[in-house]
Amino acid sequence: MSDSQRYVVVTGGSQGIGLATVQKLARYAQRTAPGYNIVIASRNQQVSAQAVAKIKADTPDAQIEAMPLDLSSFASVRQFAAAYKAKGYPLHVLINNAGGMIYGKQARFSSDGFELTLQTNHLGHFLLTNLLLDLLKESTPAHIVNVSSQTHIPGFGGGPPPHFDIDNLQAEKYYDARVFYKTVKLITMWFSYEMQRRCTSSGVTSNAMCPGFVPQSIGERRTSPLSRFLYLQVLPRMPFARSLDQAATSLVYAATDPAMEGVGGKFIVDCKEKRSSDESYDEQKASKLWDLSWQWCGLH
Ligand SMILES: NC(=O)c1ccc[n+]([C@@H]2O[C@H](COP(=O)([O-])OP(=O)(O)OC[C@H]3O[C@@H](n4cnc5c(N)ncnc54)[C@H](OP(=O)(O)O)[C@@H]3O)[C@@H](O)[C@H]2O)c1
Repeated sequence: MSDSQRYVVVTGGSQGIGLATVQKLARYAQRTAPGYNIVIASRNQQVSAQAVAKIKADTPDAQIEAMPLDLSSFASVRQFAAAYKAKGYPLHVLINNAGGMIYGKQARFSSDGFELTLQTNHLGHFLLTNLLLDLLKESTPAHIVNVSSQTHIPGFGGGPPPHFDIDNLQAEKYYDARVFYKTVKLITMWFSYEMQRRCTSSGVTSNAMCPGFVPQSIGERRTSPLSRFLYLQVLPRMPFARSLDQAATSLVYAATDPAMEGVGGKFIVDCKEKRSSDESYDEQKASKLWDLSWQWCGLH
């Protein structure tokens, strides 16, 4: 290991946009100094091992490994953070990418008792980031990138807007998978901006990004032939769609581009800063969410 190596953790780096990002970082590392030492943090270790093998085949010198992380379990997040620290690695870039919509008519809950969209996309990353924050602060300049979605902006992409109701975060009143997804991505924006406010002058920056609509990663998970055809053959040709490579380019830009050095509290789309929803700039809600998340994750 070279001292000049930069260490990157990518949650959900085993598939979809996360994997495309890891591939790009690995190739990029071959051409530039310092290179990247990449850790894929994902649930399924078999899929992660396949991802590592694929990258090694493509980029033999890649410094890459996989470590188990299930964001829907606070115990697993704590184990990951402890195991990462035990390796003695620094941490220069944390990409909180894993997650997505949890399809279904009924809400599902984690073993910790939280609605699964909320825990996988937000609470797991909130805990992970706070457990690794001391390491990020020791490794400055360091960057946190949180993968959100433009669908948190009312009117974007159609369908019902996000609806943040503190008394319905556990689906006490109703459950709608799309509304919960958009709401959790709004929460990701609050987390990202609030983290930046709390990290001012620490040398750690926190930004949010949206990879755009990437039908390929959605289609890979579909089982119905019609749906697969739609997502893998038809939608990728639409002008509003982004390829895995375009999504990864934007994510790598937000996480590593020299233009992002010292830049925090932004929302990045297609490698450019974009205004997020009006509600995402509500500092009171962001602060309240931070305190609740801190309490729910059992942080002290
Ligand atoms: N695709 C789009 O159009 C789009 C648009 C806007 C935003 N996004 C966001 O982009 C991110 C990546 O999406 P994607 O389309 O690439 O999704 P994807 O292909 O389904 O990949 C998701 C990744 O997250 C991992 N993951 C899921 N649940 C996990 C958990 N509980 N613990 C640890 N890892 C977990 C998966 O690993 P396993 O193998 O363990 O399942 C997989 O590596 C998500 O945050 C999504 O919301 C996507």
